[in-house]
Order: sequence, then structure tokens, then C-alpha cells
Amino acid sequence: MPARRCIYIDHGQGGAPGCMRLAERDMPAPTGRQVLIEVACAGVNRPEVLQRAGAYPPPPGASPYLGLEVSGTVAAAGPEARQWKVGDAVCALTPGGGYAQYCLADERHCLPVPRGLDLLTAAAIPENYFTVWTNVFDRAGLRAGEKFLVHGGSSGIGLTAIQLAREFGAEVWTTVGNAEKAQACLEAGAQHALIYRDTDYESAIRDATGGKGVDVILDMVGGAYINKNLRLLAVNGRLVQVAFLEGSKAEIDAMPIMTKRLTFTGSTLRPRPDEDKAAIADALRARVLPLMEQGKCLPRIHAVFPLAEAARAHELMESSRHIGKIMLKVKE
Ligand SMILES: NC(=O)c1ccc[n+]([C@@H]2O[C@H](COP(=O)([O-])OP(=O)(O)OC[C@H]3O[C@@H](n4cnc5c(N)ncnc54)[C@H](OP(=O)(O)O)[C@@H]3O)[C@@H](O)[C@H]2O)c1
Repeated sequence: MPARRCIYIDHGQGGAPGCMRLAERDMPAPTGRQVLIEVACAGVNRPEVLQRAGAYPPPPGASPYLGLEVSGTVAAAGPEARQWKVGDAVCALTPGGGYAQYCLADERHCLPVPRGLDLLTAAAIPENYFTVWTNVFDRAGLRAGEKFLVHGGSSGIGLTAIQLAREFGAEVWTTVGNAEKAQACLEAGAQHALIYRDTDYESAIRDATGGKGVDVILDMVGGAYINKNLRLLAVNGRLVQVAFLEGSKAEIDAMPIMTKRLTFTGSTLRPRPDEDKAAIADALRARVLPLMEQGKCLPRIHAVFPLAEAARAHELMESSRHIGKIMLKVKE
């Protein structure tokens, strides 16, 4: 086992980004199938920003600390862990606590660092690729040849969805806040990028698809988008919700669900059982990591901050000026 204490980001009672401070705590000890990872880099995700602000409490049993994904090297293993040995380079979905020098993860939620990728890029994989895989491909069942719309296309989640959907043969539409973000989405593989501030995306997509609409929509906005999404879906369409940035309450006309035989679904990753996350990791290992090793479908890194500047990283995310991933460098 390494040293007995470790540095982490403490967010106290929560609040504005300034509530985050470097602090010291006991070294976490791996139990069962957990491994202890010496963290090289950690990704910053909107759910962590919401948790810090007090709007997204961790599920029962999860770490109360911030940080849902890391890369690094295995420093110790629990008594039942078999898949990794000390010194292996991994990236991992964590139950929280990734903004730290050391962090625990279930060994089944770790992935090898894809050949050719550095630890910074690897740390940007878990949260976005697990989320997109399970929602877009497992739940919504996106297939080659289908039309796919992703809202918030320039987000970490959005760019992941665009790249994977395109790679697996879908025609990809996206909505974004400005022209620079639209350009980034086109470069990532979207065929159509609409700026929602100056285009009515609903009528634009309906016109361009001859009134048929799209087969699958990945949405993180909610609010007024819910009715538009239901209207925009084609017969047998699927709407999958991963967040409600504009609220989960709206007066919904549910008629299209019946008349077009739609599926309205969604999920949150963090409270899923360990077995579910392990199954997603297996799918990524088989279907996505080989693409990454060919240089395809890679995360786009927008900015990197030292761990001590986690507050600046959160401020940037809250500004929504970023395109792709914001990262924390933990180990120099
Ligand atoms: N369900 C799950 O398991 C799961 C897991 C991870 C993340 N998520 C969710 O997925 C979303 C994307 O996560 P991320 O980490 O990739 O976040 P992110 O990079 O910060 O992306 C959010 C983007 O959404 C767009 N947006 C549209 N409406 C918005 C609004 N009302 N408020 C703020 N942003 C708005 C913004 O770009 P524009 O300029 O285009 O508006 C913003 O850049 C988040 O809502 C997050 O909570 C869900």
C-alpha cells in the first residue's frame, strides 16, 4: 500500500465553485473486487458540477466526494480482485472520489488505456462513453441507416454520441448554441448541425426529412424540448433522456407516443448496479476500444487544469463556453 494519507478535493457543504479546496484524508483501502488507482488525470463532468452545487446528491453507498472518472495506475487490489495487477495503466468509472491522488474503483469498471492514447485522453473516456453506449445503443437501440438527433452536441456526452453514432452508420443531426460549436460537431462527424438560438430545429429537421423526422433522439435539455422531441420522432422512434438542464416538468402531449408507437426512456449511470456497469465496460472493450486504437472516436479535450484549480474547471463548465472535455491533471 502507498502512503497513509492522500490529497483530494473537498467541497464541504457544497455551493459555488470556490467551495472546493485541497484537503487531506486517509488513504482509501480497496475491499472485495475494488482496486486502488494512483490517479494521473480526472475528467470533469456536469453531474459533478451539479453535485458540488447541491443539486445532485450521490446515490446511497457511493463516495460523497467529487470525481466520476480517472486514469492512472493500479496501486493496490482488494482481496477478490483478479483482473489487474499493481502497475497496470487503466481508466476507470468510479463511484465518486476521482478528484484525488488516489481513488477506488470496481475492477470490472476499469478499462485498459487504449494503445496509442496518453493518460490524459484516457481519463476523458469512462463517464461519457459508458453513458452514451448504454443510452444510445442499449436502450434506444440505434441502428445503421437510422437518423439520430443529439441535443447539446458540443458537450462531452454530445461529441461522444456524434462520433459513435456516425461510426456505427447513423445519419447524425445535432443542436448547439453557436457557430463554433456547430463546426466542432461537423468535424466530429455530424452531417447536420443546427444553432438552436437562430434556427427552429423542429421545423428544419421535419422539412429536411420530408416530414418523417428522426429515429432516435438523445436529449439532455428537457423542458420545452420534450414535446418537440416527441413530435420530431418518426414511427417507432426512441427518445432517450440523460438530463433535464431546462427542467423535467412540462405539459406533455403524449398522443404521439401512441400514434407513432414511440419509446420514451432514459437512465442515470451512477446508481446503476455494479453488474450493469461491468456489462457496459465489456461492450466498450469489445466494440469501442478497438476503434480508438485506430485513432477513431477519440475524446476532444478542451482545457486542462491542475487539481488545485478544480474551481476554475467548474467555472468554465458552468459558462458552457467549452467544446468537449475539461480535465484535471492530478499527477505531474
Ligand atoms: N444520465 C447520465 O447517466 C449522465 C451521465 C453523464 C452526464 N449526463 C448529463 O449529460 C449532460 C452533458 O454532460 P457533460 O458532462 O457532457 O456536460 P457539458 O459538457 O457541460 O455539456 C452541457 C452542454 O449542454 C448545452 N446546454 C443546452 N441547454 C443547456 C442549459 N439549459 N444549461 C446548460 N447547458 C445547456 C450547453 O451547450 P450549448 O451552448 O449548446 O447550449 C453545454 O455546453 C449533462 O446534463 C449531464 O448532467 C448524464
